[in-house]
Amino acid sequence: MGETGGVWYDADIEHVIVSEEQIREKTEELARKVAADYTHVESVLLVGVLKGAVMFMADFARAMGREGRPVEMEFMAVSSYGQRATSSGVVRILKDLDRDIAGKHVIVVEDIVDSGLTLSWLLKYLESRTAASVEVVALLRKPDAIKVQVPVKYVGFDIPSEFVVGYGLDFAERYRELPYVGVLKSAVYARA
Ligand code: IMP
Repeated sequence: MGETGGVWYDADIEHVIVSEEQIREKTEELARKVAADYTHVESVLLVGVLKGAVMFMADFARAMGREGRPVEMEFMAVSSYGQRATSSGVVRILKDLDRDIAGKHVIVVEDIVDSGLTLSWLLKYLESRTAASVEVVALLRKPDAIKVQVPVKYVGFDIPSEFVVGYGLDFAERYRELPYVGVLKSAVYARA
């Protein structure tokens, strides 16, 4: 705790978009929905996309556990080629799945869907590996995602088209540890 009672990062945040409490409640709600939809399967394979989804993956998996739904966990790391704004949707795999997912009921766990290009590539990739089913749970969705028509079955929050940090999301690899999601003060970009 700092001198004013806040943590260092609170001073860098312009405003909070989704609070810690809202994330907790929404995660429970999403897990309840997913658990109810997957009562017929023995186990669900959660595929988290590093690094942004790591916080949500950890909390979502535990929420699924509390709902009595067993899960397995896998992680992938991908990077888009070129500038995000002109991204062709071509994705390079930095870390692949550790095992075969054929016949598995896969749920991709995403922090945020923005252009949706990464996700639409990932869905095709997972389907080509002959998963029994592939769905997506995303904590956050920006307005552009709706244009690309990526089938995100479970969405936590629709947020404005602003750059956000926290709860896994970074700016220059910082702010991932924030327990909430917020917008940075412009002074932070000015000093970067
Ligand atoms: P998409 O392919 O445009 O949907 O990009 C998705 C990825 O971009 C996410 O998984 C994040 O890692 C990153 N991203 C998108 N919007 C933000 C943001 O506001 N803050 C931090 N990272 C973001």
